[in-house]
Amino acid sequence: MATVAVLPGDGIGPEITRAAASLLRQLRPDIETVESPVGGAAMALGKPALPPETRTLCDRAEAILFGSVGLPQYEGKPLAERPELALLQLRGDYELYANVRPVRVFPGLEDASSLKPELVRGLDLVVVRELTGGIYFGKPKEQRQIDGEDGAVDTMVYKASEIDRIARVAFDLARGRRKHVTSVDKQNILETSRLWRRVVDRVAAEYPDVELDHLLVDNAAMQLVRRPGDFDVMLTENMFGDILSDEAAILTGSIGTLPSASLGTRKTAGGAFGLFEPISGSAPDIAGKGIANPTAAILSAAMLLRLSLGDDTNATRLERAVEAAYAGGARTTELGGTLGTDAFTEIVRAAL
Ligand code: NAD
Ligand code: IPM
Ligand code: MN
Repeated sequence: MATVAVLPGDGIGPEITRAAASLLRQLRPDIETVESPVGGAAMALGKPALPPETRTLCDRAEAILFGSVGLPQYEGKPLAERPELALLQLRGDYELYANVRPVRVFPGLEDASSLKPELVRGLDLVVVRELTGGIYFGKPKEQRQIDGEDGAVDTMVYKASEIDRIARVAFDLARGRRKHVTSVDKQNILETSRLWRRVVDRVAAEYPDVELDHLLVDNAAMQLVRRPGDFDVMLTENMFGDILSDEAAILTGSIGTLPSASLGTRKTAGGAFGLFEPISGSAPDIAGKGIANPTAAILSAAMLLRLSLGDDTNATRLERAVEAAYAGGARTTELGGTLGTDAFTEIVRAAL
């Protein structure tokens, strides 16, 4: 029996993750879903952000359905004392280097976008974000005295092999799509970006059928809102991808609709072990109100079915049900509607 570790976490995490897990169980009663605490929820129990029992569960699971971690009460604390540490540990320990963030605008939601509807109609791009390198993981990373005053240092570091493998993910994905990769860097300033561009060019030579262009990250941020429809696969290092995927998210009208998959090298019977989560955070401003949009969590469950369990049929069923819900006019509050998390979930369930 396949096991899915369900880690709801903090803020809206439990609300939207439990909604998605309930649909997952309905589609696949044969799957074992096991919940375990993570982030601030674990810390409130006197445990570390990633408790040993949660890690043990993940070790034996085919996939992780993750909510979100992070709470306002930890603001200003160092990473080692924050809920977010759990997520970095999971990504790092399982070497989940490939973060895939599809950005799609549901028909009928064009008006919800902050851009003109004609710019986002039919939008379908995917951000491929390197997830285990760069400034998130580079050492040294610390607060220290510099020239006799408080200072701090983060280190952006990449090896060619790390760039090579994430570039291949982007090019392979592009092959099944519109065959266009846009690689993002800051090669006019950063050494890591000059290496990035060199390695991406080298990989591109093995994919002559895929068009490649390079954009500097500041220009990429601008082009993303100027001509979003021109992007197919956007390949980025860790931090640029974090920022650009939130920007891309709002093209769809709500960050609450965007799922993600984080994949590494560990294989499962049906595909690859992965962590699946909304790209958004714990949304403390709306947590506990029952109004969070569960779409991102539901679509993350669909990605989990497809990529870790090899169940394309049920993944597609779930995605179609979400599309049907939107096509039928279902809207959560941030999209101008009146539906809460549970009411929206029940509409999706009915459409299954
Ligand atoms: P956020 O993504 O939590 O929220 C940004 C805005 O989007 C808020 O106004 C929020 O209400 C809205 N929003 C997000 N998800 C929504 C949903 N499903 N439905 C409706 N509206 C939604 O970003 P933030 O406020 O900058 O971060 C809050 C906390 O979450 C921080 O502690 C941060 O570190 C953490 N965080 C965690 C993850 C994760 O666990 N993967 C991702 C991002 C941020
Ligand atoms: C994301 C989040 C995380 C990141 C945080 C919570 C560590 O913003 O998944 O996009 O920066 O990667
Ligand atoms: Mn982010």
